[in-house]
Amino acid sequence: MSTLLDTRITELLGCKYPIIQTAMGWVADPKLVAATGNAGGFGFLAGATIPPEQMEANILEVKSLTDANFGVNFHMYQPNAAEIIDLVIKHGVKAVSYSRSPGKEMVARLKEAGVVCMPTVGLPKHAIKAVEMGADAVAVQGGEGGGHTGAIPTTLLLPQVVDAVGDKVPVLGAGGFKDGRGLLAALAYGADGIAMGTRFLLTKESPVPEATKQRYLACKDPGAIIRSEALDGLPQRMILNDFLSELEKAGPLKKLIIALRNGLAFRKFTGASMTSLLRSALAMTSSGDITKSQAIMAANAPMIIQKAMVDGRPDEGVLPSGQVAGVIDELLSCEDLIRSIVDEAESRFAKMGNA
Ligand SMILES: Cc1cc2nc3c(=O)[nH]c(=O)nc-3n(C[C@H](O)[C@H](O)[C@H](O)COP(=O)(O)O)c2cc1C
Repeated sequence: MSTLLDTRITELLGCKYPIIQTAMGWVADPKLVAATGNAGGFGFLAGATIPPEQMEANILEVKSLTDANFGVNFHMYQPNAAEIIDLVIKHGVKAVSYSRSPGKEMVARLKEAGVVCMPTVGLPKHAIKAVEMGADAVAVQGGEGGGHTGAIPTTLLLPQVVDAVGDKVPVLGAGGFKDGRGLLAALAYGADGIAMGTRFLLTKESPVPEATKQRYLACKDPGAIIRSEALDGLPQRMILNDFLSELEKAGPLKKLIIALRNGLAFRKFTGASMTSLLRSALAMTSSGDITKSQAIMAANAPMIIQKAMVDGRPDEGVLPSGQVAGVIDELLSCEDLIRSIVDEAESRFAKMGNA
């Protein structure tokens, strides 16, 4: 209809619309990524929470389901980061996203192979650094976004990042987007498109079990989707369910008990026996050393997230989510979601032009 939605990002990623489905651990699987691509968006596979052999199978599965371009997400601290990069290059994956840069040499290797490097950043200075390291585009996530997130809202952060690096690389707004109004607003801020996590989690194709999706939909208050450090020591946005409330209030000993209840992953982490762990936990409470307890909790975080996101028990685990879940009422197919965003952005834009 218009060239409104042909931006630098659609050109760079080779997709129809400037609508990106971001990587989400345990959520962004091949079917979701392919459905996004088939609907004209661009999807990223989650690579931080799966073994490399499964990553290769996932890449091949996306390719069997769509001809659309797609990307892979990973983070530099995961032990298999180099293997993921090898797979991306081997299979000609179009783009990678990451939240901490894999280092100049790795970025150079990816770029030499023609892979688009698109980190997520949370501050203008990180955007500048990412571009210096070779990023081809940046997604900037405001504090209302899901998963690990900063404190500054998208409305303040996005224009700052556009001013800082927008003349060099395309910028995507992330955090709090769900519809065509949001896309148009992002474009008005000077962005080249939007990246959404939570809205894609709440689609028909998302692999999250139905009981957990319904728990997200039942949350009608964006204020009840809080930023908490209780899970792994870093601010992460999650729906405040009973489990998270318990975690928020828990002292070091209680955290250890919760960790124990959640499958003893910490034993692998510390190599310690149960008795010695309990002894050190008791010592911890008297010395006020919370760091060790937090580390044990962090080691358990993946298992706790999986309870909700994979096993379908939303009250027994945590629910990483953007605040936008509080204003999402229904599950849509990726096709209907992207079509409605495009239609709304174009019709509102037309109306504004005629006002
Ligand atoms: C369930 C969930 C899991 C996430 N996992 C990851 C991840 O593994 N890697 C990552 O870079 N970002 C992750 N994020 C952040 C998203 O990629 C995205 O930046 C964020 O959801 C954008 O905000 P929105 O939820 O308001 O759309 C996750 C977000 C959610 C909701």
